[in-house]
Amino acid sequence: MEPKTQKHLPSKQNIFFLFLIQFLVGFCMFSYVRLSDDASFFLCPTSESTVPDEAKAKLVILLWKFPFGAEFPLDQCQESYGISGCYLTANRTWYDRADAVIFHHRDICRDQKQLPQIARPPNQHWIWFNLESPSHSPNLHLMDNLMNFTMSYRLDSDIFTPYGRIEILKEPQNFSIPVKSKLVSWVVSNWNPWSKRVKYYQELKKHIQVDVFGRGHEPLDRDKKFSTISQYKFYLAFENSQHQDYITEKFWSNALQSTTVPVVLGTTRENYERFLPAEAFIHVDDFPNAQELAAYLKLLNSDDEKYQKYFDWRRRLQIAKNGDWNSHFCKACQYLRQKPTYRIIPSVAKWFK
Ligand SMILES: *[C@@H]1O[C@H](CO)[C@@H](O)[C@H](O)[C@H]1NC(C)=O
Ligand SMILES: *[C@@H]1O[C@H](CO)[C@@H](O)[C@H](O)[C@H]1NC(C)=O
Ligand SMILES: *[C@@H]1O[C@H](CO)[C@@H](O)[C@H](O)[C@H]1NC(C)=O
Repeated sequence: MEPKTQKHLPSKQNIFFLFLIQFLVGFCMFSYVRLSDDASFFLCPTSESTVPDEAKAKLVILLWKFPFGAEFPLDQCQESYGISGCYLTANRTWYDRADAVIFHHRDICRDQKQLPQIARPPNQHWIWFNLESPSHSPNLHLMDNLMNFTMSYRLDSDIFTPYGRIEILKEPQNFSIPVKSKLVSWVVSNWNPWSKRVKYYQELKKHIQVDVFGRGHEPLDRDKKFSTISQYKFYLAFENSQHQDYITEKFWSNALQSTTVPVVLGTTRENYERFLPAEAFIHVDDFPNAQELAAYLKLLNSDDEKYQKYFDWRRRLQIAKNGDWNSHFCKACQYLRQKPTYRIIPSVAKWFK
């Protein structure tokens, strides 16, 4: 049937109807303009009144699962990092309204069923988040053609979330090295006798005393970790696997926060130097074998001037405050607010190795 065209003057009902349309259009435009400052992804919300206060005019970021299942308060970005404009939640009721969803790989990699089983709203960003190394990241192929952004310790991630970083001091400072009475320590929980790091240690200990802490070795209280490591001149910051940019808390926290000299085994020296001055650490690859490394550590032990050189960088640089999960999520917020261009990632596995 043809719609009835209006040839007569508008009736009262029609005028009311026109007003109503105008009001709705205006309301929509207004919401859009107001929101678009912060949130270009919103169109006209179905009804402003259904949007809870905490999410108004904000990007909604849904955390699909808490990393390793441990819950903690989200939405600390304004308070802890001065980053505003996002509503972070792990409440899946928000799925349809979420501008972005963060997927922590370890918690979704078992099978496809761990991912949303309902249709994906148009323009929703999916963010692949992972801090484990490729050697410990199974089923990467399940992510094929799903993700729009990567978030990891890899420097070339869309959202770079490293285990640690250094920052330049505003003013150079004097630095004094804590008192050291012991030589080499290592804290290790995951003891794999076939791993490169355990094999290296087995060689090294033939030539120098190494005190090992952790499961199956000398026990070490969590709250005594820094003060214990700090008494040692050297710390073995040995990674569980060797991959580009994979430098973990073993280095940043255990070694550097404890103000000791890291002896690293992991990615290449060149790669470490992208994140820290060359003279801040000793690399096992600097030596043809463990025996010669041991000889060098003993030499430094008897030569204070040489040893102190490994701390010179601390006059100009400092370790940034340790990032927690929230710091990473807030970084995602900051990134999304810059309105990045969408990506389609055909294969995370091809890149993450
Ligand atoms: C999840 O969000 C919805 C919508 O805001 C709310 O009604 C519900 O109470 C929330 N659930 C939890 C567990 O917070
Ligand atoms: C995000 O990635 C998905 C899966 O590859 C793709 O279908 C979608 O178009 C991407 N989003 C945008 C806005 O490009
Ligand atoms: C650093 O040490 C030097 C020499 O001991 C001293 O002159 C200077 O005032 C110190 N600077 C600071 C910032 O403490």
